[in-house]
Amino acid sequence: MSDAPPSDATAPAAGAQTPAAGPATPPETPVEAVLARRRSVRAFLPDPLPRADLERILRAARSAPSGANLQPGRFHVLTGAALDGLAAALVAAAESGRPPVAQYSYFPQPMPADLKDRQRAAGHALYAALGIARRDLAGRQAQFLRNYAFFSAPVGIVVTIRPDMGKGCFMDLGMSLMALMMAAEAMGHASCGIGALANHADVAHAHLGLGEDEMVVCGLALGRPDPDAPVNAVRTGRDALAQFATFRGFS
Ligand SMILES: Cc1cc2nc3c(=O)[nH]c(=O)nc-3n(C[C@H](O)[C@H](O)[C@H](O)COP(=O)(O)O)c2cc1C
Repeated sequence: MSDAPPSDATAPAAGAQTPAAGPATPPETPVEAVLARRRSVRAFLPDPLPRADLERILRAARSAPSGANLQPGRFHVLTGAALDGLAAALVAAAESGRPPVAQYSYFPQPMPADLKDRQRAAGHALYAALGIARRDLAGRQAQFLRNYAFFSAPVGIVVTIRPDMGKGCFMDLGMSLMALMMAAEAMGHASCGIGALANHADVAHAHLGLGEDEMVVCGLALGRPDPDAPVNAVRTGRDALAQFATFRGFS
């Protein structure tokens, strides 16, 4: 699989063979094709998602492996009035200007400078696609609030974990999230993780009537991608493979 990001013009097209002198590169597998195609989508068509599709997607998420098969995650799938009600509560909390009330820390505190640069670059790419100038704080805030409206997606998911889990269990949850995103992508749906939801975790927790055995980790927006929305033109890069991985003992 190419280490180039999906947006890299040098990446082979899906199914393409790379001409090489050595052994032929095997054709791209269906899994690689879905991985290369998936990207975060932040504008959706209003079409509802059939419950049958959602159940398939959630079965895929459930199939993820977990240490000792603990299966520590839970997925609360919302649409229609249930989603609108939660989104309204979250937007109101975010608009109020109250300080974040998170149930865990997503990012390192404080964020190291090199990672801060990456975070800024991701933000700039997003705002540039939307034509929001760097100094347009109101425009940036309005876009940020869209997180709490689940980007107006027809389906929103609140992802939780048992609060007594160790860090390793977040890996388990991540695997379920990726399986969910892959299954959705393969079925023609698109998604975006919403870590920002954790800033108002208490609101989601109370609104959904969750118990003490669940901690809100993130949200997820799901639906058909809006092909005409400028925000969906955002493309992200990845580290070079040599930076991402080391290989030892190969000839
Ligand atoms: C768990 C998780 C949480 C995320 N939270 C947000 C978020 O709050 N807001 C947002 O706009 N994007 C969010 N994203 C999307 C990331 O910014 C995106 O995955 C990253 O920039 C790489 O881009 P790509 O998904 O298009 O490959 C999240 C992604 C993940 C996996």
